[in-house]
Amino acid sequence: MSLQFIKVNTQAEKFIALIELNRPKELNALNRELMLEIRDTLRLLDDDENVRTIILTGGEKVFAAGADIKQMANATAIDMLNIDQFSTWDQIKKTKKPIIAAVSGFALGGGCELAMTCDMIVASETARFGQPEIRIGTMPGAGGTQRLTRAVGKTVAMEMVLSGRFLTATEALQYGLVNRVVPAELLIDEALKLAREIAAKSPVAVKLAKEAVNAAFNNTLDEGLLFERKNFYLTFASEDQKEGMAAFVEKRTPDFKGK
Ligand code: CAA
Repeated sequence: MSLQFIKVNTQAEKFIALIELNRPKELNALNRELMLEIRDTLRLLDDDENVRTIILTGGEKVFAAGADIKQMANATAIDMLNIDQFSTWDQIKKTKKPIIAAVSGFALGGGCELAMTCDMIVASETARFGQPEIRIGTMPGAGGTQRLTRAVGKTVAMEMVLSGRFLTATEALQYGLVNRVVPAELLIDEALKLAREIAAKSPVAVKLAKEAVNAAFNNTLDEGLLFERKNFYLTFASEDQKEGMAAFVEKRTPDFKGK
């Protein structure tokens, strides 16, 4: 697959793939083509048994300044409906393997939504999170009103969405939007460290556990608990569960195969 707007390293490290947005002059603005490349790449990585964890980054300077305003500026509502650009975000949500967003600089509008659609966010001290669509006469359209509200709570989300105020990395950490904040030069190292921790675990259990955590967002507590319990029982069908528990008993490091 030839890629114009992103760079992909399927073996950044053993079992870890790195996707880097690559439109630096446009501050990684998310045009349709870039989002299609992300969608197609995630599909491939999800099927690649040599990949267990995925990192998505914009590099050290900027994560993404949002959907491409120039591409959208003259669109009609029906153009937007027909193109249905934000449906490409659904593939990120559907990806079974964990995705870590490594965010430095601006993560605005669709950029903030892209980071929030990932499973975890490692931020650099320079990261700024915002939903500034209100400043350009529109509103978030790729999850900003929903995922942000679930992450930071109603009052902070309202302020960000209605006034366009950005959060600093420290605020994002305080409000629970990100997992950790590190100096910009350590961003990828920290993301890799987290990815490595996850990639060393049973891929079967990781997949089922991710699915169960996500079920907390769409279900009642009872439905979520039932879903969790069934996925827990299902792990006992895996060789990895036998290996993990045997290794504990034998006081050795488990060797998970994803079977
Ligand atoms: N779309 C298209 N181009 C963009 C862009 C965007 N979202 N953000 C920045 N760019 C372009 C600029 O037009 C500029 O291009 P030129 O050099 O050709 O003029 C280049 O990137 C550099 O940007 P600036 O000169 O503006 O850089 P700055 O450092 O002065 O400001 C910024 C940085 C504060 C991020 C500013 O660029 C900005 O406000 N960008 C728009 C942010 C925004 O409104 N995002 C939401 C988009 S809508 C959306 O995302 C909808 C949704 O829910 C999915």
